This record gives sequence, structure tokens and C-alpha cells, in this order.
Amino acid sequence: MWKLSQLQSDTINALKDHECIAMEVASQKLVVFNLHGQRFAFRNRCPHQNKKLLTDQSHCFDETFSLVECPLHGAQFLPSSGACVSGPCLGHKLERYQFIWQDDDLFLSRSEH
Ligand code: FES
Repeated sequence: MWKLSQLQSDTINALKDHECIAMEVASQKLVVFNLHGQRFAFRNRCPHQNKKLLTDQSHCFDETFSLVECPLHGAQFLPSSGACVSGPCLGHKLERYQFIWQDDDLFLSRSEH
């Protein structure tokens, strides 16, 4: 589990709904999302061809904002688990991280799901 800096915590808190941002936390290259008020993160690598998941800050989700979408070949992933549900990497999943508040500090950990 990694503690985030105050600046990183503020950046994540400031994300608006449906926004995403690439950031590095404790040498982990991540994409952090705000989906309906919930913040979560995936390693910034798509399991198809191991390319960056976030290459364009404006493109994180499908048009219904229910699935995370890779901009390169359109793979779609469940935000809750990172499982690929459509596209060229079915059966694979994104590496998911979760945020945990403890007192006034924000921590990142690998998700068990
Ligand atoms: S690299 Fe993500 S779908 Fe191909």
C-alpha cells in the first residue's frame, strides 16, 4: 500500500465525473478515473499489445460511460474488475488498484478483484 502526496490526493479529488488522468504513484504508471463519484485506477497498460491505455486525456470510457475503453483497438473493460468484455483481449483484464482513505491520508493498493 502506497501513501499519496497531498498534491496527488488533491488532483484525484478534483477529477470531475467521467474524467481520467495519467499519473505515477510509487513508480506505478496509472490511469485514475472518476466514474459517478468513485475514484479507481488501472495500470496504464492495455493487455492487448501492452500499449498505453490512456493516450488521449479525453477518451477513457465508451459512449455510455459504463465501460473503460482502450482507444487503440476498442477493447472494453468493466470498471469494477478490469475484465475485458469486448474487443481483442477477451479473457484478460486490466491490473486494478483501489484508493483507501485513512484519517486524512489517501493510500493506493492493488485490488484483490
Ligand atoms: S492496445 Fe488496447 S485494444 Fe489494442
